[in-house]
Amino acid sequence: MAEYITHSRAETVELGRRLAAKVSGGQVIAFTGGLGAGKTAFCEGLAAGLGCTDPVSSPTFAIVNYYRGPRPLAHFDLYRISTEEDLNAAGFYDYLDQGAVVAAEWSENLADLLAAENPIRICIAPVAGEENTRRITIEGVSL
Ligand SMILES: Nc1ncnc2c1ncn2[C@@H]1O[C@H](COP(=O)(O)OP(=O)(O)O)[C@@H](O)[C@H]1O
Ligand SMILES: [Mg+2]
Repeated sequence: MAEYITHSRAETVELGRRLAAKVSGGQVIAFTGGLGAGKTAFCEGLAAGLGCTDPVSSPTFAIVNYYRGPRPLAHFDLYRISTEEDLNAAGFYDYLDQGAVVAAEWSENLADLLAAENPIRICIAPVAGEENTRRITIEGVSL
C-alpha cells in the first residue's frame, strides 16, 4: 500500500494519469471516500492517461459513463447500486468482459462482490483543516 498527499485537484488528476500507465483492460479500480473527496477528479486523469477523449463527468445519474479510446474506461457510480443483480444490469460485467478498464466510485456499497474482481483499491480522504488537501491510499499496484 502506498500513500500520497495531493494539495490540489490538479495533483489528484495527475495521480490518476500516472495510474493509467499501470493498468490494463479488465482491471477493476475500486474507489472509496465520501462526497467531494476527489474520486471523479482522479478518474478524469485516469481517462486522460488511458487516451480516452470523451469528457469525464460524474456518472451519478447515468450509473455508468463510458469513455472511448485506445484503452476504454467504464466509469461507474455505485451510490445507488446495492445488489449483484443491479450491478449486472448496469453492464458492469459486460464492460469487464469487453476488456475495458472499470472504475467504480462508492465501491464500499458492494465491497464483497468487488473483492472477487481483485481490484486496485483507492481511498481518498480529506485532511482536517486543509480544504485542498487529500490523503490518497492505493493498494494493489505501485505507481
Ligand atoms: N486535492 C484535491 N483533490 C481532488 N479534488 C480536490 C482537491 N482539493 C479540492 N478539491 C475539490 O474537491 C472536489 C472533488 O470533487 P469530485 O472529484 O467530484 O469528488 P467525488 O467524485 O469524490 O465526489 C472538487 O470540487 C475539487 O475541486
Ligand atoms: Mg464522483
